[in-house]
Order: sequence, then C-alpha cells, then structure tokens
Amino acid sequence: MRNAVLWDALRKVLERVDPGTGPHDIVDVGGGTGGFAVPLAELGHRVTVVDASLDALAALERRAAESGVKVRAVQGDAVDLPGLLGPDAADLVLCHSVLEYVEDPAAVMAALAATVRPGGSVSVLVPGQVAAALHRAVAGHYDDARRALTDPSGRWGEHDRTPRRFTRQSLSALVEGAGLRVGALHGVRIFADLVPGGPSDGDQDAAEALIALESVAAVHPVLRELATQLHVVADRR
Ligand SMILES: C[S@@+](CC[C@H](N)C(=O)[O-])C[C@H]1O[C@@H](n2cnc3c(N)ncnc32)[C@H](O)[C@@H]1O
Repeated sequence: MRNAVLWDALRKVLERVDPGTGPHDIVDVGGGTGGFAVPLAELGHRVTVVDASLDALAALERRAAESGVKVRAVQGDAVDLPGLLGPDAADLVLCHSVLEYVEDPAAVMAALAATVRPGGSVSVLVPGQVAAALHRAVAGHYDDARRALTDPSGRWGEHDRTPRRFTRQSLSALVEGAGLRVGALHGVRIFADLVPGGPSDGDQDAAEALIALESVAAVHPVLRELATQLHVVADRR
C-alpha cells in the first residue's frame, strides 16, 4: 500500500526504457536491505546495490538468497558512483530515501546522472517539506510546523531526525542542475499519512479505495506537493 504509487511509476519507466529488449541493468544507490532491489531482481532485471553500510549489504544478500535471486552488492559512497561502476552503467538508477542524508545532494545527483545511460532514467524519492509542516500542525505542534515551512532544510526542530527535506521546486532544480529532465513528478502518500490509523486491517475495500485515491492525487498539481514523499523520474536525453 505504502509504495503502490512508486511501483506503478517504476513499472512505467521499465516499459519505456528500451521496450522489448528484455532485462535491464538497474543500480539502486543507497538500496539498503533490498526493499526495491530484490523485487526488481525477481522480475528478471540485473540489479546492483551500492550502499555505504556493510550491515545493510549483508542483510540484502541474505534477503536475495532467501528469494532465490542474485543482486550484486557494492560498498561505497553514492558520490563515488562513476568511479565504482563506470559511466553509463545502468538503464535505470534508483536513489530512494538517500538524498536527505548525504552531505552534498547536488554532487550525488551529478553522480546519478553520470551512471544512467542516454535514454535511461533516474528514480529519486525524497521527503516533502510541506508534508512535514502539515503533519506537525495536525499533531498540534504549530511552532514546529512554522519552522518546517521556513527552515531552508525543511527541518522542524533539533529533535527532527530528518536532516533535509525538499519541495517540488528544490527537487526539480536539483534534477535540472545535473543536466537531467524532469519526466514525471509524483506525490507519494498524500492522504495515507493524514488519516489516523488508516484503513483497519482486513478492510480490503477501504484499502483499495485509498490506493485508487492516492494514485489520482499523486499527479494532481496541488495535492502532490502535500505528499510525505516526492518522487521524480528524471530522464537522461
Ligand atoms: C533510509 S535507507 C533507504 C533504503 C532504500 N533505498 C529504501 O528506499 O528502502 C538509506 C540508505 O542509504 C544508505 N546511505 C546513506 N548515505 C549514503 C551515501 N552517502 N552513499 C551510499 N549509501 C548511503 C544507508 O546506508 C541506507 O542503507
């Protein structure tokens, strides 16, 4: 449920990149324990995960083995990607929930751009600044909500564990600054994180209705900016 919009977008990218040519080369940067990498390998793609954490890579290898697939695991920093894998190494590069933690997001975005082949795409997922303000306000923390909106990094206070958040504008500027084109921009989890508790367990109809609502709102020009996460498909011409 949480990632329905995301998987939909990834499926569309994979259909578009070299249709009919079979498995693709996919690099998942900061892929962690393989939440995306392993299902993509199960679909038959050749997947490499580059991650800074050896522990995460060990968990990834266990998860891949349990699923009966092979995923190449490479330890390294996202910013060193071209040196680690060489240029034009992938049809699709994933960088999900990583840019908020790195020292220099623009340098990492340039590394992602150098790793994707011409005609390929980069899938970037980041936390949304507007959503952070909305969520703090709904919880009654109005000062935090104001800080989240006005702080240049989108943080609501010193106890905020997310180092950086993005808006549609700051994310698009990052993509374009690396010479990529914003192909699609989605909001991920717009209502799902606002409805307390969400659909109760076993209420399949409500869960399906929420997924259908999220998929329409994901591309709505106003609502997508309120999403917990912003997802961009950045194309290399
Ligand atoms: C929040 S997890 C996201 C995991 C996965 N991408 C996902 O969406 O489920 C962040 C991951 O990024 C990795 N990471 C953080 N900074 C990194 C960097 N500079 N280079 C490579 N990996 C990094 C962490 O080790 C961690 O596995």
